[in-house]
Order: sequence, then C-alpha cells, then structure tokens
Amino acid sequence: MRTHYCAEINESMIGQEVTVAGWVASRRDHGGVIFIDLRDKDEVVQLVCDPADNAEAHRIADEVRDHYVLVAHGKVRARGEGLENPKLKTGKVEIVVDKLLIENRSLPMPFDLGDEKVNEEIKLKYRYLDLRTQKSYDIFRLRSKVTIAARNALDKMGFLEVETPVLTKSTPEGARDYLVPSRVHPGEFYALPQSPQLFKQLLMVAGFDRYFQIAKCFRDEDLRADRQPEFTQIDVEMSFCDQEDVIAVAETLLKEIFEAAGKTVEIPFKRMRYDEAMEKYGSDKPDLRFEMAMVDVDDIFARCSNEIFTSIAADPKANRIKALRVPKGDTIFSKRQMKGFEDYVRKFGAKGLGYFQYKEEGLKGPLTKFFEEKDLQEIIDRCKLEVGDVVFFGAGEKKVVWDYMGRFRLYLAEQMGIIPQDVYAFVWVIDFPMFEIEEGRIKALHHPFTMPKSLENSDDIEAIESIAYDIVLNGVELGGGSIRIHKEEIQEKIFELLGISQEEAQEKFGFLLDALKFGAPPHGGFALGLDRLVMLLTGAQSIREVIAFPKTQKAQCLLTEAPSGVDNEQLKELSLRIRQQVVS
Ligand code: AMO
Repeated sequence: MRTHYCAEINESMIGQEVTVAGWVASRRDHGGVIFIDLRDKDEVVQLVCDPADNAEAHRIADEVRDHYVLVAHGKVRARGEGLENPKLKTGKVEIVVDKLLIENRSLPMPFDLGDEKVNEEIKLKYRYLDLRTQKSYDIFRLRSKVTIAARNALDKMGFLEVETPVLTKSTPEGARDYLVPSRVHPGEFYALPQSPQLFKQLLMVAGFDRYFQIAKCFRDEDLRADRQPEFTQIDVEMSFCDQEDVIAVAETLLKEIFEAAGKTVEIPFKRMRYDEAMEKYGSDKPDLRFEMAMVDVDDIFARCSNEIFTSIAADPKANRIKALRVPKGDTIFSKRQMKGFEDYVRKFGAKGLGYFQYKEEGLKGPLTKFFEEKDLQEIIDRCKLEVGDVVFFGAGEKKVVWDYMGRFRLYLAEQMGIIPQDVYAFVWVIDFPMFEIEEGRIKALHHPFTMPKSLENSDDIEAIESIAYDIVLNGVELGGGSIRIHKEEIQEKIFELLGISQEEAQEKFGFLLDALKFGAPPHGGFALGLDRLVMLLTGAQSIREVIAFPKTQKAQCLLTEAPSGVDNEQLKELSLRIRQQVVS
C-alpha cells in the first residue's frame, strides 16, 4: 500500500510523489488547513491537507480523529521557514496530500499512549496499544537483533539449532512444574520444561556435538521484577569440552550480541570464585560497577569486651563479622538515616547494625568502648578508613550476614548515587559448591547432573565444589551452566549424596541415566536468560517491558485473562474434577 515508511521521507525527496500509511498521532486544524502527524512503526511524518490544494482530501481529513488508520498520497515539500521540527527525522519536510483514505477508525484510547505514569494493569490489558509506542517498538527491534545475532554467532561456531519438546516430563531446575493433563492417558500429565537441560544432554549422546536453541522455559515460582513464569533462554550444549571451552563460546556469543546492540565489550571477562563473591559482596551475583567490598574483622572483634561479638567470633566456620566502609558516609548521612539503615537490615534477618564514624579525633560510636585503642587502629588500617568515613558491621550466622550486608551494600550505593550507568561489569562466578544445605536437607546448588570437581572428600559435603559457572552482569544473573556428569558411577554417587534412591532417580530421569550408559561423551553447556539480557541492554525496569505479552506478578495474562476456568465437558474429557474451593 505504501511507497515509503515515514522515516524514509526526507529533504532529498522534495517534489517526489509518495504514499505513506499509518496511524494518526495528532491532528490540528489551523484555520482551515489540517495538519496530521502520521505515525508508522517508528517515525512520524506531517501531512498537510489544504482545501486550496485538494478539496476532497481536506474533506476527508476533517473526519479524521486520533489513532485512525490512514493511507495518504501526496507530494513532499519543504516546511516553511521556522516551522521545522528538529525532534523528527522527517522534521524538515511535509507531505501535501492529494489523496487520503481512511482505512479504519478507532475508539478513543483507554489510556494516554506513552504516558509512563499510567497504571500497568490497564497497559497490560491493552498490551497491543502499549506496544504501539516508540519505546516498545525500539525494545522489540533490539530484542529481534539480539536473537538474530545469537543465532548467527552460534551458527558461525558450528552449533546446530534443534527444537526440543514442550510437552514433556519434569526437568530438574528446582522450581514447580506447570502440568498439562493428558486426554488419552487419563490421570497422567505432561510437564512443561523448566529448561531443555535433559534433552540437550541427550543430543550430545546422539553425537550432535554442538546444539543451541532459543528455548521457551516454564517455571511456576514466585515472580519478581526479573522473573516470569514463561521466559526464553539462549540454550547451548557442546561435547568434548572443558569449562574453558564453554566459557570461550559464551564470551564470543555475548560479545557479538552486544555488538549487534551497538555496544562494545572486552573479553575475556573477569572471574571470581564463589567464596570470594560471597565474602566480599555478600552475593553470588555481585554488582561490580562499584567496589565497596566487605572486609573480615572477626579476629579483631574476638578480642573486644562485648560478649555478643566474642561468642559470634568464636565460631568462624559458622559465623562472620563483616565490615563495610562507606566513603564520606559521616558527612553524607544524617542520624535519622543511620537509624533507618538498621531498620533496613533487620528486614533481612540482622539483629542490629553496628557502626563507627571516623572523625578527626578517631573512631566514634557506641561500640568503641568495647575495644582497645590498638584494635580500633587495626580496624582503621584494615578497612582503609579516611576521616569522614563510616564503617558498618554485620555479625551473625554467615549466610544471614552475607545476605543482609550484600543487600545493604547495594542499597547504600543506590542511595548515594554511586553506581555508574552505561557500564557493563561482567563477571564469571566460578567454583560453586556442589551442594547446599537447606533446612537440614542436602540439595544440588545447580542441578544434580553437574560434574563435581572431585568426590575424594565426600565427608565434608559443603566443601565439594562443582564445575559450574554463572555469568553475572551488573549484579544480575544473566546465565549459568556447567560441565555435566557423563559417567554413570559419578551420577549414582551424587544421587546417593542427595539422598535420592535408585528407584526415584530411575523414575524421574531414567531416560537420561540409560542414555549415559550408551557412550555419553564428556559435555557441558550454559543458558543465557534472553529476557534479562534485553532488559539490561535497554535499561528496562521490569522484565515485563521486554516480553511482548507478559504475565503479571500473579502469573496472569490480563489481555487474554489466562488462566481461566474451563467447562465441565472439557474437564470430563481430561478425566479431571475441580474440588470445591475450601473457604478458610
Ligand atoms: P538456570 O536455571 O540458571 O540454568 O537458568 C538460566 C538463565 O535463565 C534465566 N532465568 C529466568 N529468566 C526469567 N524468568 C525466570 N523465571 C528465569 N529463570 C531463569 C536467568 C538464568 O541465569 N539448564 C540450566 C542451564 C545449563 O546448565 O546449561 C538452567 O536452566 O537469566
């Protein structure tokens, strides 16, 4: 229908006849001459309907309202002196319309398109209108570029794109499954994949050597700003490789993706052991755009005269006492703010929050009385304090201290505005523990198919490390992966340590365990969260902005109203009955 997109109309076309098509962004009647801003996917051009030029086009323009769909034919001309609009690519020209067609009318918009303050619920209900904005189009154009760049980069590196099933069996990523009832097998269910993990391993047994997929994954878990129940991974697996080979592929892939998005990143990325990430930044996804690392002061506190601290310091395996220096904190924060900080960390399990202020005359604060002068000096030296700084202390069970001090570090940095924008601080977190103990139960930190570094000292379960790695960008876990177990005897040992019986393992993952017996090659891989990647590249505040039709925090699609009830006939066909809701 069109000869040109709006963005293509420019000064070089003055005098040329064109046809453009799109939506009315605005319409103004200036004493008989009607001006229409016509918008297509990504730009606006001005149409002029002057009764002196063409009476019929002007008559139709008079009927036009905002958001109507038009096809307009006319001649490009320069805008008059002083009438140019530098904000538009097309701002130096306009189209004098001689033929105007109203292709469709529109109801008034239910909200102001592009208004950031509009309630998200209404935007999600009319998501197709929210997507009609320039901001949305730019996000999805970038998302498309990223996906295509990923495909091209992996294709160049010899990876084969293979689709794996969506109706399948439970996969081991640790969230709840979405289940789909089977009609032909009453009482039986498919699970939607939490990731293609097991199938990609089977493709390695098949000898495909290098696989990738832009894969939809489904996880029924608590939703957050960077989590959706249905999301997309760039999923990769390769054979005859070690951790270095996998990391090299992931780095090349990320470099090419960032290039496609117009950003340059340096590879190889920094690496950090899991232990170091936890001890210094209190998180396995440290934000390294700024430093503010924590420092151990257990030994100094062990010598103080406060029994709470000395008893915590007495068990250095279970507990930590951490110091967090805040440069110039004493001059930045008021007394009230300092009090607020304590409330903040208490939300995450802290029993309190100690601090010292470093004044000209030395360290000040309610805790100083418990320390000897030389120990106070040691705190100054070890934390590299300068006059005007504040140093905060967290003390208690190590996981709790890591968690609240890590969050506090981020919170302070945000409050102080010291996190640089437009910086991409990548880091590989490596050497993860194989297991974690949660409420007395041993769990695989990644998944049970992750290769342990060694099982020689399997008595100290928490000391066993795995060949697993996460790629972290600006404090967000962008992706992760591991070298997998390809030998049956190691797999059996891991199940044993996890307390998974042979029968249970066989029932859940028997098909994979069987496959490992038929010449499984050494293999490993990773998956990047595509939605998170696009979030970071576009600076979006929520993952919902970068997914075309996202779900709410309550896992609902407000547009289609899914999930929804089904009629009894359908339930009967599936051999299902809904239990009466119990009202408590
Ligand atoms: P993992 O579970 O770490 O690994 O997932 C990989 C990446 O997927 C993204 N991601 C999510 N994005 C949005 N919403 C969610 N609910 C969500 N959950 C995960 C994250 C995460 O880093 N099979 C392994 C990979 C492997 O070992 O090869 C896996 O799925 O960015």
